[in-house]
Amino acid sequence: MSDDTHGGVTTMRAVVRDAYCSPDALELGVVPRPVAGDDEVLVRVHAAGVDPGVWHVVTGLPYVVRVALGPFRPKVRVPGTDVAGRVEAVGRNVTRFRPGDEVFGTCGGSFGEYACARQERIAPKPVNVTFEQAAAIPTSALTALQGLRDRGGIRAGQRVLITGAGGGVGTFAVQLAKTFGADVTGVCGAGKTDLVRSLGADDAVDHTRRDFADGSRRYDLILDTAGGRPLSHLRRALTPGGTLVLVGGEGGGRWLQGTDRQMRAMALSPFVGQNLRVMLLSPEGREKDLRFLRERVESGEVTPVVAGTYPLGEVPEAIRCMRDVRPGGKIVVTV
Ligand SMILES: NC(=O)c1ccc[n+]([C@@H]2O[C@H](COP(=O)([O-])OP(=O)(O)OC[C@H]3O[C@@H](n4cnc5c(N)ncnc54)[C@H](OP(=O)(O)O)[C@@H]3O)[C@@H](O)[C@H]2O)c1
Repeated sequence: MSDDTHGGVTTMRAVVRDAYCSPDALELGVVPRPVAGDDEVLVRVHAAGVDPGVWHVVTGLPYVVRVALGPFRPKVRVPGTDVAGRVEAVGRNVTRFRPGDEVFGTCGGSFGEYACARQERIAPKPVNVTFEQAAAIPTSALTALQGLRDRGGIRAGQRVLITGAGGGVGTFAVQLAKTFGADVTGVCGAGKTDLVRSLGADDAVDHTRRDFADGSRRYDLILDTAGGRPLSHLRRALTPGGTLVLVGGEGGGRWLQGTDRQMRAMALSPFVGQNLRVMLLSPEGREKDLRFLRERVESGEVTPVVAGTYPLGEVPEAIRCMRDVRPGGKIVVTV
């Protein structure tokens, strides 16, 4: 740690940028240490999760995301959302956390030595995992949970298909779907079928060898995290009254990326027997969901898969690994 005081301002090391840029242009800098607002907790960051959202925040692509992130330049200088660390200080309205508590959750700017998080966006860290594992959980596991339970209405005994099953969201979705009592099939690349089975999937389909929509099996619920496939292809694998939840997908144009597919799904859904739904991670009930995930992790039903760790000074390499190597599970930055 290198926090220091310059001209009365306490500073810290962080990844900073003032414009949308390539992840390769990200560098470490020295910035003022954030100060917790009344409802916030200042966290000494130990680990920060990396997921495709980080790439979108850094590049400002597709352009449609700039509506929320800042049209001309990013509103938040330090990227990174998922955090695990120790509470350093709390705002005056914070009642649930005290300095020294180990926490995990989401915040604005976790690629730095300190970050401020709203108290309802964090929860006590699962006691049986490392900070690195805890930082792998928030965005990916919350997305898997809300996608299966809230958007998908998952029920015991259903046949559930998860695309991108070896990825960040997918590795949590496979495990969570099993805890809901579903029969789970995971779709992934050739090198990840063993991983997907080891997470509890009843079947793993290598998409380079087998088409899950070949008509041999239909699913009550499909969670599509890999994107890229046309709606018609996904619907062929769905039962007549089944539910498709579109989570995401990389690639596509600079303006909309996969969002046009999501808009088509919403427009089509009222006119077909199948339910075509779009997943948008909600901040509602986040603390409750983080506590739910913490219990599943502590009970051993869900285990975060950390594919690799990179130090804070190597965030560009971490992002490159996530996008280009696509290892199974999550990449985490250690601080
Ligand atoms: N809607 C929301 O609220 C929400 C929240 C979180 C994430 N997301 C989105 O959901 C998607 C999945 O997130 P994630 O964290 O699971 O990502 P990830 O860790 O990169 O995993 C995605 C998986 O999709 C597969 N894939 C197939 N084609 C791909 C391509 N062209 N580029 C990258 N991966 C490809 C890969 O599996 P194989 O290599 O095995 O084929 C990869 O493991 C992303 O698009 C992300 O932005 C949306």
